[in-house]
Amino acid sequence: MTARFITFEGIDGSGKSTQARALADHLRNTGQEVVLTREPGGSPGAEEIRQLLLTGDPDRWTAETEILLFTAARRDHLEKTIQPALDAGKTVISDRFADSTRVYQGATRGDLRSTVDQLHALMIGREPDLTFIIDMDPATALERGLARQSGEDRFEDMGLAFQETLRHGFLSLAHAQPNRCILIDGNREAEAITSEIAAHL
Ligand code: ADP
Ligand code: TYD
Repeated sequence: MTARFITFEGIDGSGKSTQARALADHLRNTGQEVVLTREPGGSPGAEEIRQLLLTGDPDRWTAETEILLFTAARRDHLEKTIQPALDAGKTVISDRFADSTRVYQGATRGDLRSTVDQLHALMIGREPDLTFIIDMDPATALERGLARQSGEDRFEDMGLAFQETLRHGFLSLAHAQPNRCILIDGNREAEAITSEIAAHL
């Protein structure tokens, strides 16, 4: 089977955007039509919701409210960007998707995983064909993430212990879903990681 809907997941600053871009370039060079997108965002409506979620105080929203907002953004992204591209025969690469909600909202501030799963089943109802989970030392990743000064640091501002919890969440997800998820060691030169990802495809 050709993987047509591919996602990148991992903690903040782990190198997802860098690798998603590199994979999109690689596939375009082989003649594929690729839509490179991201979450939260990826459609005009979802980009507006992104601003609400990623700026402001860490305690601006509870995890429960975040689940609703991220799922609303994802539904719009799916309707307006992902599904039309897949229907047109394009490959879609998304920098984050539902696994981020499973980990950031489902497994950090209480056990909300079943709430996340129920809302996903009700409103999204699809998984990627293939997911690369980039595993990375949380301290280095956090340093890289904050160095960007993006102004969208609400989750980075929750601190290093939060990033460590996230890392464990992504590792358990990779182990629980080995058919869909490929764990990638992100503590290497970007080019080496790109080659490994291309080889997996
Ligand atoms: P993410 O999307 O996971 O937050 P990025 O791809 O934006 O991560 O990378 C975060 C920062 O780290 C960027 O400044 C990027 O240039 C840098 N970076 C990405 N991959 C590597 C790597 N393998 N080694 C060193 N620096 C990297
Ligand atoms: P992003 O630009 O992907 O962050 P980074 O480049 O730092 O990895 O911003 C998305 C932020 O939103 C990130 O901190 C993770 C968080 N997030 C969730 O908490 N739940 C979700 O469902 C998604 C998609 C993202």
